[in-house]
Amino acid sequence: MTTNNRANFGTKLGAILAAAGSAVGLGNIWRFPYMAGEHGGAAFILIYLGCVLLFGAPIMMAEFVIGRHSQSNTARAYQKLAPGTQWRWVGRMGVLAGFLILSYYSVVSGWTLEYICAAGLGHFADKGPADFVNLYNNFVGNPWIPVLWAVAFLLITHFIVVKGVEKGIERSSKLMMPLLFLLLLVLAVCALLLPGAGRGIEFLMKPDFSKVNGSVLLSAMGQAFFSLSLGMGCMCTYASYFKPNTNLPKTALSVSLIDTSVAILAGLIIFPAAFAVGIQPDQGPGLLFVTLPNVFQQAFGHVPFIASLLAVMFYILLALAALTSTISLHEVVTAYLHEEFRLSRGKAARMVTGGCIVLGTLCSLSLGVGRDYTLAGMTLFDLFDFVTAKLMLPLGGLFIALFAGWYLDKKLLRDELTNHGALRLPVYGLILFLLKFVAPIGIAFVFINELKLL
Ligand code: PFF
Repeated sequence: MTTNNRANFGTKLGAILAAAGSAVGLGNIWRFPYMAGEHGGAAFILIYLGCVLLFGAPIMMAEFVIGRHSQSNTARAYQKLAPGTQWRWVGRMGVLAGFLILSYYSVVSGWTLEYICAAGLGHFADKGPADFVNLYNNFVGNPWIPVLWAVAFLLITHFIVVKGVEKGIERSSKLMMPLLFLLLLVLAVCALLLPGAGRGIEFLMKPDFSKVNGSVLLSAMGQAFFSLSLGMGCMCTYASYFKPNTNLPKTALSVSLIDTSVAILAGLIIFPAAFAVGIQPDQGPGLLFVTLPNVFQQAFGHVPFIASLLAVMFYILLALAALTSTISLHEVVTAYLHEEFRLSRGKAARMVTGGCIVLGTLCSLSLGVGRDYTLAGMTLFDLFDFVTAKLMLPLGGLFIALFAGWYLDKKLLRDELTNHGALRLPVYGLILFLLKFVAPIGIAFVFINELKLL
């Protein structure tokens, strides 16, 4: 195995921020609000929080244990810990999920580049809510421009992954994460001060459980896995770069907390803003891109320079948050191809980027000229999102929980979680209980409920 050219995160904070960089991305700021908007708001958010606590945090700890102990890419990790068994398919399914997610994720990441330019060139000035809806629809419906941006985004990701992720990920995360958080705070305050924002708060805070059905449960669970980068070996791959003294339970809790705070902050921006300008919260993938320009315009439009500056800054930070996530997705697949098929890192990365350009182009076109080609009523873009976030990631999470809770030697699990006894971990029993029973039964219940498996 070639672990010698694997990266290593230098500091504990660096490890937390790099994992948080993977977790925090479009999933929090783009996907979370539109999912919550489509599924009724507060009830969805409460179920989401439950999924993060009961499934997300323990499964992240399990991925950390598997990754750091095996020091390998996610597929090899299972081969090392469970040689000669079928567990290796959990790792392989994760690699495939990563490849598919990267394909459509790059499309939305590309949109952020277009919006940086549009904001910087002053295209938002003097526009109203309806204009922003048109702007978005015309843009995603265009056959070329979104594809070019997606390709550009993939090439940037490619370049960084090939150059090595050591310094890049860690350093940029340390600077960007706090900056992104700060700007989100400022925008949340602005959105909350918009006239008519109150209905957005109500939507966020007042749960209506009568609307909860299997689809809401599955969406909230899928969102938790997607947002925390779980179920596909991403956190496992990153943990293989952790140092022996990294505190795994604490890191998992910190990452979960940071990730959830960013999602809630995004909700505090998008919903008040949407209600304030009369945009329905169930707009689907366009929600962020039609509501946010309105916040900039309404809150700062009287000083166009400030409005443009803040908008450009926001989309740059969003693009960078997306970039730390695309890097982690790319890295999972590249590390796998590089280590398992003895390809050079460069060649492995080129195959990943090339494949994603093809699939990403098809996903992008499926929102415009190809929108009539559907499968089970879904465009290719929606299909990739559904299959990965709602099926593959929770299924991967289910198997990871079973693997850590039942298969893995308990001494190994405890040793990794406590750094061989150096850390006190009074909640070890609870973590094991969550991994053994709560997560597998909970995930299976949601699947059965929505997919009518029984
Ligand atoms: N967690 C990322 C986000 O919320 O944007 C997306 C993601 C990254 C999912 C890495 C899965 C993954 F392995």
